[in-house]
Amino acid sequence: MAVFYRGIAQTYPTAVRAEGMHVFDETGKQYLDMCGGAAVASLGHGHPRVVEALCQQVSTMAYAHTSFFSNHPQEQLAEALAAKYSEPGAKVYFTSGGSEANETALKLAWQYWRAKGQASKRKIISRVHSYHGNTFGTLSASGNLPRRRVMGDLLIDWPRIPPCYAYRHQHDDETELDYALRAANTLETVIQKEGADTIAAFIAEPVVGASLGVVPSAPGYFKRIREICDANDILLIADEIMCGTGRTGTFFAHEQDGFLPDIVTQAKGIAGGYQPLAVTLARAKVHQAFVDAGKGFDHGHTYVGHASACAAGLAVVKVIDDENLLQNVNDMGAILQEKLTANFAQHPHVGDIRGRGLFRGIEIVENKDTKTPFADEMKITGRLKQTAMKHGLMCYPGGGSARDDLGSHILLAPPFILREEHIDQLIDKLTLVFADIFDA
Ligand SMILES: Cc1ncc(COP(=O)(O)O)c(C=O)c1O
Repeated sequence: MAVFYRGIAQTYPTAVRAEGMHVFDETGKQYLDMCGGAAVASLGHGHPRVVEALCQQVSTMAYAHTSFFSNHPQEQLAEALAAKYSEPGAKVYFTSGGSEANETALKLAWQYWRAKGQASKRKIISRVHSYHGNTFGTLSASGNLPRRRVMGDLLIDWPRIPPCYAYRHQHDDETELDYALRAANTLETVIQKEGADTIAAFIAEPVVGASLGVVPSAPGYFKRIREICDANDILLIADEIMCGTGRTGTFFAHEQDGFLPDIVTQAKGIAGGYQPLAVTLARAKVHQAFVDAGKGFDHGHTYVGHASACAAGLAVVKVIDDENLLQNVNDMGAILQEKLTANFAQHPHVGDIRGRGLFRGIEIVENKDTKTPFADEMKITGRLKQTAMKHGLMCYPGGGSARDDLGSHILLAPPFILREEHIDQLIDKLTLVFADIFDA
Protein backbone atom coordinates (compact mmCIF):
# COMPACT_ATOMS: atom_id res chain seq x y z
CA MET A 1 0.00 0.00 0.00
CA ALA A 2 1.62 3.20 -1.17
CA VAL A 3 -0.78 5.70 0.38
CA PHE A 4 0.68 8.03 3.02
CA TYR A 5 -2.40 7.77 5.24
CA ARG A 6 -3.63 10.48 7.59
CA GLY A 7 -3.19 8.18 10.59
CA ILE A 8 0.07 6.25 10.42
CA ALA A 9 -1.09 3.43 12.71
CA GLN A 10 -4.70 3.38 11.54
CA THR A 11 -6.57 1.28 9.02
CA TYR A 12 -9.56 2.61 7.14
CA PRO A 13 -12.48 0.87 5.47
CA THR A 14 -12.49 1.56 1.72
CA ALA A 15 -15.49 3.56 0.60
CA VAL A 16 -16.76 2.45 -2.80
CA ARG A 17 -20.20 4.00 -3.21
CA ALA A 18 -22.30 6.79 -1.72
CA GLU A 19 -25.95 7.60 -2.18
CA GLY A 20 -28.19 10.14 -0.43
CA MET A 21 -27.55 9.96 3.31
CA HIS A 22 -25.25 6.92 3.12
CA VAL A 23 -21.69 5.87 2.32
CA PHE A 24 -20.96 2.16 1.59
CA ASP A 25 -17.63 0.40 2.05
CA GLU A 26 -16.29 -2.47 -0.06
CA THR A 27 -17.76 -5.10 2.29
CA GLY A 28 -21.21 -3.61 1.67
CA LYS A 29 -21.46 -2.05 5.14
CA GLN A 30 -23.60 1.07 5.20
CA TYR A 31 -22.73 4.23 7.16
CA LEU A 32 -25.31 6.91 7.99
CA ASP A 33 -23.57 10.17 7.12
CA MET A 34 -24.51 12.57 9.92
CA CYS A 35 -21.50 14.86 9.47
CA GLY A 36 -21.14 15.14 5.68
CA GLY A 37 -17.55 13.93 6.17
CA ALA A 38 -16.33 17.23 7.61
CA ALA A 39 -19.50 19.28 7.01
CA VAL A 40 -18.97 18.89 3.27
CA ALA A 41 -21.78 16.78 1.77
CA SER A 42 -24.43 19.50 2.02
CA LEU A 43 -26.78 17.86 -0.50
CA GLY A 44 -25.95 14.29 0.39
CA HIS A 45 -24.32 11.92 -2.06
CA GLY A 46 -25.05 11.47 -5.76
CA HIS A 47 -27.48 14.36 -6.20
CA PRO A 48 -28.60 13.93 -9.83
CA ARG A 49 -28.69 17.65 -10.68
CA VAL A 50 -25.14 18.26 -9.47
CA VAL A 51 -23.86 15.11 -11.17
CA GLU A 52 -25.49 16.18 -14.42
CA ALA A 53 -24.18 19.76 -14.26
CA LEU A 54 -20.70 18.51 -13.50
CA CYS A 55 -20.68 15.88 -16.28
CA GLN A 56 -21.94 18.50 -18.70
CA GLN A 57 -19.17 20.93 -17.75
CA VAL A 58 -16.40 18.33 -17.76
CA SER A 59 -17.41 17.12 -21.20
CA THR A 60 -17.71 20.67 -22.59
CA MET A 61 -14.65 22.30 -21.01
CA ALA A 62 -13.24 20.90 -17.80
CA TYR A 63 -10.69 23.67 -17.24
CA ALA A 64 -9.17 26.74 -18.83
CA HIS A 65 -6.55 28.69 -16.87
CA THR A 66 -8.08 31.89 -15.53
CA SER A 67 -5.01 33.98 -16.37
CA PHE A 68 -6.01 33.38 -20.01
CA PHE A 69 -9.81 33.17 -19.83
CA SER A 70 -12.81 33.65 -17.63
CA ASN A 71 -15.52 30.96 -17.80
CA HIS A 72 -19.29 30.89 -17.48
CA PRO A 73 -19.52 28.80 -14.28
CA GLN A 74 -17.27 31.15 -12.30
CA GLU A 75 -19.06 34.23 -13.65
CA GLN A 76 -22.49 32.80 -12.81
CA LEU A 77 -21.54 31.49 -9.40
CA ALA A 78 -19.90 34.81 -8.46
CA GLU A 79 -23.08 36.65 -9.51
CA ALA A 80 -25.24 34.25 -7.49
CA LEU A 81 -23.12 34.64 -4.34
CA ALA A 82 -22.76 38.42 -4.65
CA ALA A 83 -26.56 38.65 -5.05
CA LYS A 84 -27.03 36.79 -1.76
CA TYR A 85 -24.69 39.13 0.12
CA SER A 86 -26.56 41.92 1.86
CA GLU A 87 -24.47 44.76 0.40
CA PRO A 88 -24.25 45.25 -3.37
CA GLY A 89 -20.98 45.13 -5.29
CA ALA A 90 -19.21 42.24 -3.54
CA LYS A 91 -16.50 40.44 -5.54
CA VAL A 92 -15.78 36.73 -5.31
CA TYR A 93 -12.45 34.91 -5.65
CA PHE A 94 -12.56 31.12 -6.12
CA THR A 95 -9.97 28.65 -4.82
CA SER A 96 -9.97 24.93 -4.03
CA GLY A 97 -10.23 24.53 -0.25
CA GLY A 98 -10.85 26.26 3.07
CA SER A 99 -7.20 26.94 3.85
CA GLU A 100 -6.66 28.54 0.46
CA ALA A 101 -9.77 30.67 0.89
CA ASN A 102 -8.58 31.96 4.27
CA GLU A 103 -5.01 32.43 3.02
CA THR A 104 -6.54 34.50 0.24
CA ALA A 105 -8.50 36.49 2.84
CA LEU A 106 -5.34 37.22 4.86
CA LYS A 107 -3.43 38.32 1.77
CA LEU A 108 -6.36 40.47 0.70
CA ALA A 109 -6.30 42.17 4.09
CA TRP A 110 -2.56 42.87 3.98
CA GLN A 111 -2.63 44.12 0.41
CA TYR A 112 -5.76 46.19 1.07
CA TRP A 113 -3.93 48.19 3.73
CA ARG A 114 -0.85 48.49 1.53
CA ALA A 115 -3.05 49.78 -1.30
CA LYS A 116 -4.41 52.37 1.13
CA GLY A 117 -0.90 53.45 2.13
CA GLN A 118 -0.99 51.79 5.58
CA ALA A 119 1.52 48.99 5.12
CA SER A 120 2.25 48.78 8.88
CA LYS A 121 -1.14 47.09 9.39
CA ARG A 122 0.03 43.47 9.22
CA LYS A 123 -1.02 41.48 12.27
CA ILE A 124 -4.02 39.17 12.22
CA ILE A 125 -5.92 38.81 15.50
CA SER A 126 -7.83 35.56 15.99
CA ARG A 127 -9.39 33.65 18.88
CA VAL A 128 -8.22 30.85 21.13
CA HIS A 129 -9.86 27.53 20.10
CA SER A 130 -10.14 28.49 16.45
CA TYR A 131 -9.12 26.73 13.27
CA HIS A 132 -8.66 28.62 10.03
CA GLY A 133 -6.55 26.19 8.01
CA ASN A 134 -3.37 24.25 7.64
CA THR A 135 -1.14 26.52 5.56
CA PHE A 136 1.52 28.52 7.41
CA GLY A 137 -0.54 31.70 7.29
CA THR A 138 -3.87 30.21 8.27
CA LEU A 139 -2.41 27.93 10.95
CA SER A 140 -0.59 30.97 12.37
CA ALA A 141 -3.98 32.68 12.57
CA SER A 142 -5.50 29.63 14.29
CA GLY A 143 -5.85 29.18 18.04
CA ASN A 144 -6.33 25.42 17.99
CA LEU A 145 -3.49 24.25 20.21
CA PRO A 146 -3.39 20.54 19.25
CA ARG A 147 -3.22 21.47 15.56
CA ARG A 148 -0.62 24.23 16.11
CA ARG A 149 1.63 22.40 18.53
CA VAL A 150 3.57 20.30 16.03
CA MET A 151 4.55 23.34 14.00
CA GLY A 152 5.68 25.11 17.17
CA ASP A 153 7.63 28.32 16.78
CA LEU A 154 7.77 28.03 12.99
CA LEU A 155 4.38 29.74 12.99
CA ILE A 156 3.91 33.49 13.15
CA ASP A 157 2.94 34.49 16.70
CA TRP A 158 -0.07 36.77 16.28
CA PRO A 159 -2.29 37.96 19.15
CA ARG A 160 -5.35 35.96 20.16
CA ILE A 161 -8.40 36.70 22.31
CA PRO A 162 -10.65 34.21 24.15
CA PRO A 163 -13.62 32.76 22.26
CA CYS A 164 -17.24 33.69 23.02
CA TYR A 165 -18.23 30.43 24.68
CA ALA A 166 -21.08 30.90 27.13
CA TYR A 167 -21.21 27.28 28.35
CA ARG A 168 -17.76 27.61 29.88
CA HIS A 169 -17.10 31.33 30.26
CA GLN A 170 -20.36 33.14 31.10
CA HIS A 171 -20.49 33.98 34.82
CA ASP A 172 -23.58 33.01 36.83
CA ASP A 173 -24.36 36.64 37.67
CA GLU A 174 -23.97 37.86 34.08
CA THR A 175 -26.70 38.29 31.44
CA GLU A 176 -26.05 36.91 27.96
CA LEU A 177 -25.50 40.44 26.71
CA ASP A 178 -23.12 41.33 29.56
CA TYR A 179 -21.10 38.26 28.70
CA ALA A 180 -21.20 38.99 24.94
CA LEU A 181 -19.86 42.50 25.56
CA ARG A 182 -17.21 41.34 28.01
CA ALA A 183 -15.99 38.74 25.51
CA ALA A 184 -16.03 41.20 22.58
CA ASN A 185 -14.25 43.93 24.54
CA THR A 186 -11.19 41.70 24.91
CA LEU A 187 -10.57 42.59 21.26
CA GLU A 188 -10.41 46.29 22.15
CA THR A 189 -7.94 45.57 24.95
CA VAL A 190 -5.62 43.65 22.62
CA ILE A 191 -5.84 46.35 19.94
CA GLN A 192 -4.88 49.00 22.49
CA LYS A 193 -1.92 46.92 23.61
CA GLU A 194 -0.66 46.10 20.11
CA GLY A 195 -1.54 49.42 18.43
CA ALA A 196 -4.30 49.65 15.82
CA ASP A 197 -1.74 50.78 13.23
CA THR A 198 -0.14 47.29 13.40
CA ILE A 199 -3.33 45.27 12.89
CA ALA A 200 -4.77 44.32 9.50
CA ALA A 201 -7.71 42.09 10.42
CA PHE A 202 -9.64 40.10 12.99
CA ILE A 203 -10.79 36.63 11.89
CA ALA A 204 -13.48 34.50 13.57
CA GLU A 205 -16.05 31.82 12.77
CA PRO A 206 -19.63 33.07 13.37
CA VAL A 207 -20.38 29.56 14.64
CA VAL A 208 -17.21 27.79 15.82
CA GLY A 209 -17.08 24.31 14.28
CA ALA A 210 -14.44 21.67 14.94
CA SER A 211 -12.42 23.63 17.53
CA LEU A 212 -15.23 24.01 20.07
CA GLY A 213 -18.00 21.73 18.83
CA VAL A 214 -20.53 24.06 17.20
CA VAL A 215 -20.62 27.15 19.38
CA PRO A 216 -22.61 30.21 18.23
CA SER A 217 -21.62 33.45 19.95
CA ALA A 218 -23.82 35.10 22.58
CA PRO A 219 -26.30 37.59 21.04
CA GLY A 220 -24.72 41.04 20.62
CA TYR A 221 -21.13 39.74 20.45
CA PHE A 222 -20.47 40.27 16.75
CA LYS A 223 -22.22 43.65 16.65
CA ARG A 224 -19.76 44.87 19.29
CA ILE A 225 -16.86 43.23 17.42
CA ARG A 226 -17.95 45.11 14.28
CA GLU A 227 -17.99 48.42 16.20
CA ILE A 228 -14.50 47.80 17.57
CA CYS A 229 -13.14 46.90 14.13
CA ASP A 230 -14.71 50.04 12.61
CA ALA A 231 -13.39 52.29 15.35
CA ASN A 232 -9.87 50.96 14.83
CA ASP A 233 -9.76 50.54 11.03
CA ILE A 234 -9.49 46.78 11.18
CA LEU A 235 -10.97 44.41 8.59
CA LEU A 236 -13.40 41.81 9.90
CA ILE A 237 -13.10 38.37 8.29
CA ALA A 238 -15.92 35.85 8.84
CA ASP A 239 -14.61 32.31 8.39
CA GLU A 240 -17.69 30.44 7.20
CA ILE A 241 -15.75 27.53 5.73
CA MET A 242 -17.71 25.12 7.90
CA CYS A 243 -20.75 27.08 9.09
CA GLY A 244 -21.61 28.85 5.81
CA THR A 245 -23.57 27.97 2.65
CA GLY A 246 -26.82 27.36 4.50
CA ARG A 247 -25.51 25.00 7.17
CA THR A 248 -26.93 27.09 10.06
CA GLY A 249 -30.21 27.93 8.29
CA THR A 250 -29.24 31.14 6.47
CA PHE A 251 -27.02 31.19 3.40
CA PHE A 252 -24.38 33.26 5.20
CA ALA A 253 -23.92 32.25 8.84
CA HIS A 254 -23.19 35.85 9.89
CA GLU A 255 -26.72 36.94 8.85
CA GLN A 256 -28.06 35.57 12.14
CA ASP A 257 -25.61 37.67 14.14
CA GLY A 258 -26.65 40.88 12.39
CA PHE A 259 -23.26 42.15 11.24
CA LEU A 260 -21.56 42.66 7.90
CA PRO A 261 -18.06 41.24 7.54
CA ASP A 262 -15.55 42.84 5.15
CA ILE A 263 -14.44 39.45 3.86
CA VAL A 264 -16.31 36.12 4.06
CA THR A 265 -14.88 32.71 3.26
CA GLN A 266 -16.87 29.56 2.48
CA ALA A 267 -15.82 26.09 1.30
CA LYS A 268 -16.86 22.52 2.19
CA GLY A 269 -20.65 22.70 1.58
CA ILE A 270 -20.38 25.16 -1.34
CA ALA A 271 -19.71 22.37 -3.83
CA GLY A 272 -20.97 19.63 -1.50
CA GLY A 273 -17.88 17.44 -2.03
CA TYR A 274 -18.63 17.00 -5.75
CA GLN A 275 -15.55 19.13 -6.45
CA PRO A 276 -12.98 20.93 -4.28
CA LEU A 277 -14.13 24.55 -4.21
CA ALA A 278 -13.76 27.53 -1.88
CA VAL A 279 -14.87 31.13 -1.92
CA THR A 280 -13.37 34.39 -0.66
CA LEU A 281 -15.97 37.14 -0.95
CA ALA A 282 -14.83 40.72 -0.49
CA ARG A 283 -17.02 43.71 0.17
CA ALA A 284 -17.05 46.33 -2.61
CA LYS A 285 -14.82 48.71 -0.58
CA VAL A 286 -12.07 46.09 -0.35
CA HIS A 287 -12.02 45.57 -4.11
CA GLN A 288 -12.28 49.32 -4.72
CA ALA A 289 -9.06 49.95 -2.77
CA PHE A 290 -7.16 47.90 -5.36
CA VAL A 291 -8.89 49.73 -8.22
CA ASP A 292 -8.11 53.12 -6.66
CA ALA A 293 -4.46 52.19 -6.15
CA GLY A 294 -4.25 50.92 -9.74
CA LYS A 295 -2.83 47.66 -8.41
CA GLY A 296 -4.07 44.14 -8.89
CA PHE A 297 -4.36 41.64 -6.06
CA ASP A 298 -1.00 39.87 -6.01
CA HIS A 299 -2.09 36.25 -5.57
CA GLY A 300 -3.14 33.19 -7.55
CA HIS A 301 -3.14 29.42 -7.80
CA THR A 302 -3.37 27.15 -10.82
CA TYR A 303 -6.97 26.21 -10.06
CA VAL A 304 -8.37 29.65 -9.25
CA GLY A 305 -11.87 29.88 -10.77
CA HIS A 306 -11.77 26.24 -11.93
CA ALA A 307 -14.64 25.81 -14.39
CA SER A 308 -15.76 22.32 -13.30
CA ALA A 309 -15.49 23.15 -9.59
CA CYS A 310 -17.53 26.31 -10.10
CA ALA A 311 -20.10 24.35 -12.16
CA ALA A 312 -20.56 21.99 -9.21
CA GLY A 313 -20.83 24.96 -6.84
CA LEU A 314 -23.37 26.67 -9.06
CA ALA A 315 -25.47 23.50 -9.21
CA VAL A 316 -25.33 23.13 -5.40
CA VAL A 317 -26.44 26.73 -4.84
CA LYS A 318 -29.29 26.32 -7.38
CA VAL A 319 -30.47 23.10 -5.70
CA ILE A 320 -30.44 24.80 -2.28
CA ASP A 321 -32.63 27.58 -3.72
CA ASP A 322 -34.91 25.54 -6.00
CA GLU A 323 -35.60 22.81 -3.45
CA ASN A 324 -36.05 25.36 -0.64
CA LEU A 325 -33.52 23.39 1.40
CA LEU A 326 -32.88 26.13 3.95
CA GLN A 327 -36.43 25.55 5.14
CA ASN A 328 -35.54 21.89 5.71
CA VAL A 329 -32.30 22.91 7.45
CA ASN A 330 -34.32 25.02 9.90
CA ASP A 331 -37.18 22.52 10.36
CA MET A 332 -34.99 19.44 10.74
CA GLY A 333 -32.46 21.43 12.79
CA ALA A 334 -35.15 22.19 15.37
CA ILE A 335 -36.23 18.53 15.48
CA LEU A 336 -32.62 17.38 15.72
CA GLN A 337 -31.98 19.67 18.70
CA GLU A 338 -35.26 18.59 20.33
CA LYS A 339 -34.56 14.86 19.97
CA LEU A 340 -30.93 15.13 21.03
CA THR A 341 -32.05 17.04 24.11
CA ALA A 342 -34.90 14.63 24.90
CA ASN A 343 -32.64 11.60 24.63
CA PHE A 344 -29.26 12.77 25.89
CA ALA A 345 -29.54 15.97 27.96
CA GLN A 346 -29.87 13.89 31.13
CA HIS A 347 -26.95 11.61 30.25
CA PRO A 348 -24.32 11.88 33.00
CA HIS A 349 -21.58 12.64 30.45
CA VAL A 350 -23.40 15.05 28.16
CA GLY A 351 -22.60 18.60 29.28
CA ASP A 352 -24.23 20.67 26.57
CA ILE A 353 -26.19 20.29 23.32
CA ARG A 354 -26.17 23.36 21.06
CA GLY A 355 -25.98 24.79 17.57
CA ARG A 356 -28.00 26.25 14.74
CA GLY A 357 -29.79 24.65 11.80
CA LEU A 358 -28.20 21.37 10.78
CA PHE A 359 -25.02 22.20 12.67
CA ARG A 360 -25.14 20.77 16.19
CA GLY A 361 -22.61 19.95 18.87
CA ILE A 362 -22.72 17.66 21.90
CA GLU A 363 -20.10 18.42 24.54
CA ILE A 364 -18.92 15.38 26.50
CA VAL A 365 -17.74 15.85 30.09
CA GLU A 366 -16.51 13.60 32.85
CA ASN A 367 -18.48 15.52 35.47
CA LYS A 368 -21.61 17.38 34.48
CA ASP A 369 -21.75 19.66 37.55
CA THR A 370 -18.17 20.86 37.36
CA LYS A 371 -17.95 20.57 33.53
CA THR A 372 -14.65 18.75 34.02
CA PRO A 373 -13.44 17.07 30.82
CA PHE A 374 -12.24 13.46 30.69
CA ALA A 375 -8.53 12.91 31.20
CA ASP A 376 -6.49 12.66 28.02
CA GLU A 377 -5.62 8.98 28.69
CA MET A 378 -9.30 8.06 28.31
CA LYS A 379 -8.99 8.93 24.60
CA ILE A 380 -12.71 9.69 24.47
CA THR A 381 -12.61 11.58 21.18
CA GLY A 382 -10.95 8.73 19.25
CA ARG A 383 -13.16 6.11 20.87
CA LEU A 384 -16.31 8.03 19.96
CA LYS A 385 -15.30 8.05 16.31
CA GLN A 386 -14.30 4.37 16.18
CA THR A 387 -17.37 3.18 18.08
CA ALA A 388 -19.69 5.24 15.89
CA MET A 389 -18.12 3.73 12.75
CA LYS A 390 -18.59 0.26 14.26
CA HIS A 391 -22.31 1.05 14.54
CA GLY A 392 -22.48 2.40 10.98
CA LEU A 393 -22.57 6.06 11.99
CA MET A 394 -20.42 8.87 10.64
CA CYS A 395 -20.23 11.73 13.13
CA TYR A 396 -17.34 14.13 13.71
CA PRO A 397 -15.88 13.96 17.23
CA GLY A 398 -13.28 16.58 18.12
CA GLY A 399 -11.12 17.51 21.07
CA GLY A 400 -9.79 20.55 22.87
CA SER A 401 -13.09 22.25 23.62
CA ALA A 402 -12.42 22.63 27.37
CA ARG A 403 -8.81 23.79 27.51
CA ASP A 404 -5.69 23.17 25.45
CA ASP A 405 -6.23 19.64 24.21
CA LEU A 406 -8.67 18.53 26.91
CA GLY A 407 -12.38 18.16 26.26
CA SER A 408 -14.43 16.25 23.71
CA HIS A 409 -17.43 16.97 21.57
CA ILE A 410 -19.38 15.39 18.75
CA LEU A 411 -20.07 17.62 15.75
CA LEU A 412 -23.12 16.83 13.63
CA ALA A 413 -23.48 18.36 10.16
CA PRO A 414 -25.84 16.14 8.16
CA PRO A 415 -26.85 16.77 4.54
CA PHE A 416 -29.68 19.29 4.01
CA ILE A 417 -31.89 16.48 2.61
CA LEU A 418 -32.15 15.00 6.11
CA ARG A 419 -35.53 13.52 7.16
CA GLU A 420 -36.90 12.75 10.60
CA GLU A 421 -36.34 9.01 10.16
CA HIS A 422 -32.58 9.69 9.86
CA ILE A 423 -32.67 11.62 13.13
CA ASP A 424 -34.33 8.62 14.80
CA GLN A 425 -31.63 6.34 13.38
CA LEU A 426 -28.97 8.72 14.70
CA ILE A 427 -30.53 8.64 18.18
CA ASP A 428 -30.56 4.81 18.16
CA LYS A 429 -26.96 4.61 17.01
CA LEU A 430 -25.68 7.28 19.43
CA THR A 431 -27.44 5.45 22.28
CA LEU A 432 -25.43 2.33 21.38
CA VAL A 433 -22.21 4.36 21.07
CA PHE A 434 -22.65 5.98 24.51
CA ALA A 435 -23.55 2.62 26.07
CA ASP A 436 -20.42 0.98 24.62
CA ILE A 437 -18.15 3.75 25.87
CA PHE A 438 -19.68 4.87 29.16
CA ASP A 439 -21.52 1.79 30.48
CA ALA A 440 -18.89 -0.82 29.71
C1 LIG B 1 -13.55 26.93 10.07
C2 LIG B 1 -12.55 26.31 9.14
N1 LIG B 1 -11.71 27.08 8.46
C3 LIG B 1 -10.80 26.57 7.62
C4 LIG B 1 -10.69 25.21 7.43
C5 LIG B 1 -9.66 24.66 6.49
O1 LIG B 1 -10.29 24.09 5.37
P1 LIG B 1 -9.58 22.98 4.48
O2 LIG B 1 -9.43 21.77 5.34
O3 LIG B 1 -10.54 22.78 3.34
O4 LIG B 1 -8.30 23.54 4.03
C6 LIG B 1 -11.54 24.35 8.13
C7 LIG B 1 -11.44 22.90 7.96
O5 LIG B 1 -11.96 22.12 8.72
C8 LIG B 1 -12.51 24.91 9.01
O6 LIG B 1 -13.35 24.15 9.70
